[in-house]
Amino acid sequence: MSLPIRPLASDQVVAAAELWRAAGLTRPWNDPEADARLALSTPTSTILAARDGDEVIGTVMVGFDGHRAWVYYLAVAEARRGVGLGRALMAAAEAWVADLGAPKIELMVRETNAAASGFYVSLGYTVEPVKVFSRWLVERPG
Ligand SMILES: CC(C)(COP(=O)(O)OP(=O)(O)OC[C@H]1O[C@@H](n2cnc3c(N)ncnc32)[C@H](O)[C@@H]1OP(=O)(O)O)[C@@H](O)C(=O)NCCC(=O)NCCS
Repeated sequence: MSLPIRPLASDQVVAAAELWRAAGLTRPWNDPEADARLALSTPTSTILAARDGDEVIGTVMVGFDGHRAWVYYLAVAEARRGVGLGRALMAAAEAWVADLGAPKIELMVRETNAAASGFYVSLGYTVEPVKVFSRWLVERPG
């Protein structure tokens, strides 16, 4: 897969959010367009995208919090899967945060997403023996 992978343009945020909705990555309490704009406006995070012409065919959001790098919204358009684009997006995300000095990259996979787990194992990722805890800092939207 040799398509260039570059930061998402601000006028492609809506297209990226549509890709995420189609890939089943959004939830009612998240606003993907707002997530995307915030990631693009923060120096330690970005969204990397593969395009074919004007079409956004793959994305990954990545950021470095000072300790670890985290990945969100990895998606490849359904018709484009299986030819190495997901692997290329993850490689680009790893390189982007490695440039910032991140020593390790992590991500969360919903327990219902068995296919994604297989993909990450293929890339050499391993399951960590940790539980993820969270608490809302604002009233839960949606
Ligand atoms: C997960 C996803 C990004 C993979 O993208 P993709 O472009 O099809 O993946 P690639 O073609 O780059 O595959 C890379 C490797 O993963 C493997 N792989 C892909 N899907 C797999 C699966 N479901 N189970 C096991 N391995 C898988 C491929 O065989 C390939 O291995 P190889 O290079 O050793 O042959 C894509 O399926 C997708 O967008 N899914 C919906 C959104 C999603 O679940 N995102 C992850 C959220 S945590």
